[in-house]
Amino acid sequence: MTALSTAPHSAGPASARSSRARALSGTVTVPGDKSISHRALILGALAVGETRITGLLTGEDVLRTATAMAALGAKVERAGDIFSVWGRGIGGLAEPGDVIDLGNSGTSARLIAGLLAAYPFTSFMTGDASLRRRPMARVIEPLSLTGAKFASRAGGRLPLAITGTPVPVPLTYASPIASAQVKSAVLLAGLHAPGATTVTEPSASRDHTERMFTYFGVDVQSTGTSEKPYKTRILGQPELRGKPVTVPADPSSAAFPAVAACIVPGSKITLTNIGINPLRTGLFTTLQEMGAGIVFKNQRDEAGEPVADVEITAGALKGVHVPASRAPSMIDEYPVLAVAAAFAEGETRMDGLAELKVKESDRLAAMQRGLTACGVDARVEGDTLIVRGAGKAPKGGATIAVELDHRIAMSFLVLGMGAAESVAVDDASAIATSFPGFADLMNGLGAAISADA
Ligand code: S3P
Repeated sequence: MTALSTAPHSAGPASARSSRARALSGTVTVPGDKSISHRALILGALAVGETRITGLLTGEDVLRTATAMAALGAKVERAGDIFSVWGRGIGGLAEPGDVIDLGNSGTSARLIAGLLAAYPFTSFMTGDASLRRRPMARVIEPLSLTGAKFASRAGGRLPLAITGTPVPVPLTYASPIASAQVKSAVLLAGLHAPGATTVTEPSASRDHTERMFTYFGVDVQSTGTSEKPYKTRILGQPELRGKPVTVPADPSSAAFPAVAACIVPGSKITLTNIGINPLRTGLFTTLQEMGAGIVFKNQRDEAGEPVADVEITAGALKGVHVPASRAPSMIDEYPVLAVAAAFAEGETRMDGLAELKVKESDRLAAMQRGLTACGVDARVEGDTLIVRGAGKAPKGGATIAVELDHRIAMSFLVLGMGAAESVAVDDASAIATSFPGFADLMNGLGAAISADA
């Protein structure tokens, strides 16, 4: 066992280039689910005894959460692929000795803000240039209602100072957006409050927090995920005991080899152990509608989450309409869906994408710009992205500015796998936030991704 001591640092910008791939084949496992990994570490820090986590994502975002939990007094150790957290119980976290640096990770920042709201000390939080641009008012507003005090830069931007309250007021909060980060921040503060905390959202966002709370023994009541508004109620101040957690592979990371297999003719691949929580599978539904072969095999359950092996077969893709109602179930997958749309015959219209403007970069603008540079007809109308494909390989041949956004980098490397000319990205180091080993895994399937000279 080794203690987790230092914050991770990426190796700095390194450009990469993706050239035409051969037909993809093989069976691979993508890294662990980012959302579930954050939650396993945080619940482990709030539980008494050992939480042994198998399959934790070792991407930089999750390591930031692990380091933050250690800074708050939990013991976090790593032995190979197994992480163990010895928590301090609800209300037991300690004042951190330094600023908590959450790097690129919006999920860490928002969930940990919810935790810190419930502790009577002052802590400080910052992040990289991308995270310091992202809106935090969406969590500052509800968390202030618990009695916690926040000081931020203009517009609710990091760095942030948080002075928590010893007894958080149990809230009934109606979130104006379907956001799992907002919901989870309020529920994590509510875990420390005397009584019931209720959050409603206009439609259900991913429910990993609710599932993991239930798995750890918290009293959670949720309305059905198809009911609108979607409502979750928890009872605060439970006694949590450490539990073993197995993290499924991340469907948002699976999206990249999945779309690659859809656009490179003759491909057939299997991605094992993928989380298929219905609030995360919008991309698979959409690719099926576009004409790709997607089959869930060997369906099972792990630590309260549904899992399957997913077989993907290339097919002639056609443009489709992706309704706004599907956005929460595939919010991180639109950049790579837009790549699939660039190879499809006809127009793909993706509605309801306002939230994409406040991700690691403005992804609506980034996709429109990058696709246009690759010779694809792409435009933005309000919150809608419209991509018109010609049913054949687009030109490619551009270098894309990644702007600290891992998913923009991976999306354009996937585009290069099927385009007529190779595609480069100026900073592939961002990929390590969510998908360590991306290029090796893709090359093992048939891609030709290399460092750019
Ligand atoms: C996440 C929620 C989503 C998603 C992010 C992870 C989470 O963000 O985009 O990558 O783990 O709760 P929002 O809550 O802002 O939609």
